[in-house]
Amino acid sequence: MMLQINNLKVDFSTPRGILKAVRGITFNLSEGEFLGIVGESGSGKSVTAASIMKLIPTNGLIKGEVLMNGKNPFTMSTQELLSFRGSEIAMIFQEPGRSFDPIYNIRKTFFETFKAHDPAINEDESEARAIKLLQEVHLPHPEDRLGNFPHQFSGGQLQRIMIALALASNPKLLIADEPTTALDVTIQAEIVELLKELKRKRKLAVIFITHDIELVSRLADRILVMYSGLVMEDNKASTILKKTHHPYTLGLINSLPTFGNHYSTHKLVSIPGNIPDPVLPGKGCPFAPRCRMVKSECSMELPALNREDGAYRCIIKGPKVNTENG
Ligand SMILES: Nc1ncnc2c1ncn2[C@@H]1O[C@H](COP(=O)(O)OP(=O)(O)OP(=O)(O)O)[C@@H](O)[C@H]1O
Ligand SMILES: [Mg+2]
Repeated sequence: MMLQINNLKVDFSTPRGILKAVRGITFNLSEGEFLGIVGESGSGKSVTAASIMKLIPTNGLIKGEVLMNGKNPFTMSTQELLSFRGSEIAMIFQEPGRSFDPIYNIRKTFFETFKAHDPAINEDESEARAIKLLQEVHLPHPEDRLGNFPHQFSGGQLQRIMIALALASNPKLLIADEPTTALDVTIQAEIVELLKELKRKRKLAVIFITHDIELVSRLADRILVMYSGLVMEDNKASTILKKTHHPYTLGLINSLPTFGNHYSTHKLVSIPGNIPDPVLPGKGCPFAPRCRMVKSECSMELPALNREDGAYRCIIKGPKVNTENG
């Protein structure tokens, strides 16, 4: 197994008390696997992703284990960590514009990126490698664009350049945290196609984080559904939407307009209620207060992850069916 995450927990100290952002996440990822992580805002998706690279601010405390090809970033020195980031795992974010230095042109941005992992590189080599990477991400006429500054590119083009920079040290895993949210639908589809192509051609594993379970179901091999800092469901993308084991996953599916229209005649609903307060998450199933199938036992203790058919955290066994229209 390429990546193993074992019982990952992240606490933040805040003025209100200890905020439990991630409460015990366990999952694996194989080489070349495309994993989608979905869940509502505040469910801990970004904190989980950032923890894999140990990118947590000083008010955060990480517990548990991350093993990437046997290497544990939590026990690395600062120097080892710098080389681990980029060469084993790279990350791209939602707003590409903000990740670029506005006073560097693209040539200089690539040169600085290459130098971080290969201090001996000269400018000609850097330029040749940059053009190759930009061709790989299908930026048109890259040789003419190296002198341009970030503001001279569109959002979709900047996202492609950011992906090219992320590939600079040949990572085995690319973590994409809502990389398409700020882009329009057509450009979003193009970026998604590019990620699929990179997975295929480079055998690159991808963790793709999004709110959109429909988008990720067309993209991923596997989907992990997060809620309140926990894994609620983890299954093959082809299975999870047809044979849904967690009522929360069902709620996410029902709240999608296009998906609902395609696959059922049920009326569309967003899940009523809010996610639990991460400072006081309570002891039972965190979804219980919003769950249509709730039983009295649900609020007593946290259900264990049931690993019978994929993995799901619910005391009611078996697949759940849609009851939206009674
Ligand atoms: N540095 C921090 N200090 C305190 N709390 C934090 C910090 N970073 C994140 N959190 C909290 O941790 C929880 C999980 O945040 P996270 O960013 O992982 O959510 P998310 O699932 O990525 O949400 P979104 O879909 O909105 O991006 C939230 O309650 C958030 O406010
Ligand atoms: Mg996030």
